[in-house]
Amino acid sequence: MTGYTSVIDVLGKLDEGEKARIRGWVYRLRRLGGKVFIVLRDYSGIIQCVLDGETASRLEEEVSRVDIEASVIVEGVVRRDKRAPGGKELKVMDLKVVGESHNFPIKGGEGIDYLLDNRHLWIRSRRLTSVFKVKHYLLEGLRDYFNSNGWWEVTPPILTMSAVEGGATLFPVDFFGKKAFLSQSAQFYLETLIFSLEKVWSITTSFRAERSRTRRHLYEYTHLEAEAAWYGMEDMMRVVEEMVKAGIRRVLEKSSGDLEFIGRDVSILENVVSTRFPVITYDEAVQILQSKGVSIKWGEDFGADEERVLTKEFEVPVFVTMFPKKIKSFYMKISEENPELVYGFDLLAPEGYGEIVGGSVREDSYDKLLSRIVEEGLNPEDYNWYLDLRRYGSVPHSGFGLGVERMVMWVAGLDHIRDATPYPRFRDRLYP
Ligand code: 4AD
Ligand code: MG
Repeated sequence: MTGYTSVIDVLGKLDEGEKARIRGWVYRLRRLGGKVFIVLRDYSGIIQCVLDGETASRLEEEVSRVDIEASVIVEGVVRRDKRAPGGKELKVMDLKVVGESHNFPIKGGEGIDYLLDNRHLWIRSRRLTSVFKVKHYLLEGLRDYFNSNGWWEVTPPILTMSAVEGGATLFPVDFFGKKAFLSQSAQFYLETLIFSLEKVWSITTSFRAERSRTRRHLYEYTHLEAEAAWYGMEDMMRVVEEMVKAGIRRVLEKSSGDLEFIGRDVSILENVVSTRFPVITYDEAVQILQSKGVSIKWGEDFGADEERVLTKEFEVPVFVTMFPKKIKSFYMKISEENPELVYGFDLLAPEGYGEIVGGSVREDSYDKLLSRIVEEGLNPEDYNWYLDLRRYGSVPHSGFGLGVERMVMWVAGLDHIRDATPYPRFRDRLYP
């Protein structure tokens, strides 16, 4: 027999009596009256492999080397068995240990700090494996959306010289004696690229030195951003809605088994892809919050608590638009009707999850942008190149940023963002 069969193919394609060779890791191990039961795990699932008494004693030496998380190759014959997970098991004829594993540090029931210290091993868990598959298909659906709609993928830098989202959350870097920063957003670089490519997007890592530790903030996250020349706010909101739905549709097509394994109610997502996202203004959002007894005044920003109360009212994502300028970034275009408001929009995920996308129309007038920079107490010198974009052939344009882990957190129904990324960074714990 040549080649290997994955667990999913053994369960799905092979019949009673067919031979299979599988490689994977020992997920569970039980010895019972001379028999050995190995539940084997590979990327695709788990399968029970049984050594009867005779086989177990014939392979005694290899069997003695088997332990939890050892890597093994098993060869055997497929048998139907209602009690086995997946309805089939493998009657083992041969077994080889590839890499031994003694006293695997994670046995179940450990606390979160211990698990985070052992993230490099914890990462093998079936739950995290399922989350990362959901993330894979989500990214695939998002990418496909841009690739099928005339957008150019570009690769902006991570080492930057200026703040996009305010100085408070910048991570400084020593760049050969000069002070540089880790990027908070690729937005300004994307803006430079629309003057040639017109519709651009990127996935980069963004960094935020967040002050507070919350369930939805990472210090390092995956940022999907898009920027388009000639696009107004409605155009961009339509892109966001279609893109979000395309991502979820792909997850539902390819990864609903993973969602179910994680315990996510798939019908909520099915409803999302077939429903128009409601749009409310910041003013209306404040009124809803006040009617729910939240003590928020007009002009204040929404935190996680406000967004939780607000989005519990919705079953699908909701756009909030037209924010007060003083709670948003200097680059957002001022409303023509009310100079206190900007053409900004956030997309808030329902069920209490809150902001997953932040976007806006950009200020395209040189004079207005310069006065916003001065008004915010920023140094125009630092933004000279950004102002150049308004000096030479300025165009109306808009863009947005999606926090990929925020979206994974909602789509998979996680209660903490840390499990939406393989290696979340914490202030007191950078490794592994
Ligand atoms: O709302 P933000 O700060 O907007 C920007 O950075 C814009 N410059 C993007 C653009 O228009 N090109 O961030 C965008 C999104 C948020 O909606 C949120 O989903 C996510 O990035 N995000 C975070 N995700 C995880 N951890 C954090 N600390 C995050 N900060 C923002
Ligand atoms: Mg935001």
